[in-house]
Amino acid sequence: MSQRTLVLLKPDAVRRGLVGEIIGRIERKANWTISALELRTLDRGTLEQHYAEHVGRDFYEPLMQFMSSGPIVALVVEGERVIEGVRALAGPTDPISAAPGSIRGDFGTITRENLIHASDSEESAQREIKIFFPGLA
Ligand code: TYD
Ligand code: MG
Repeated sequence: MSQRTLVLLKPDAVRRGLVGEIIGRIERKANWTISALELRTLDRGTLEQHYAEHVGRDFYEPLMQFMSSGPIVALVVEGERVIEGVRALAGPTDPISAAPGSIRGDFGTITRENLIHASDSEESAQREIKIFFPGLA
């Protein structure tokens, strides 16, 4: 089933020059297409919407600080089972427990700075795509 997912390359990925590497891994999967892509610095309001599910958690404020610490790259990727697929390419939230071969496993060190966000369900994908690309049909 063809799906869309929202992917964010977080400020650490941009600062470390890993944008090409990460987008390359996504692009090389067969039959997935990038349907939107933008470099931008996120304001507090956008981040509050995006991370609404985490309000009140102990990591929330440091996460907001980190996510607004520099530009990110937002993209929409489209294709067969892409939601599950990009989560698998990313690896688990904590980079230390992420397997080598995954993006977080290969390049990450601490949980907050784990390089990539990818929507975790159809519902989140729809909600998140609207936040970042409201004009996307
Ligand atoms: P979460 O949605 O649980 O992870 P994922 O990005 O894998 O969907 O958390 C959102 C982000 O919050 C996560 O990518 C990094 C940060 N975070 C922390 O800094 N500390 C934590 O303990 C957790 C769970 C997340
Ligand atoms: Mg999440």
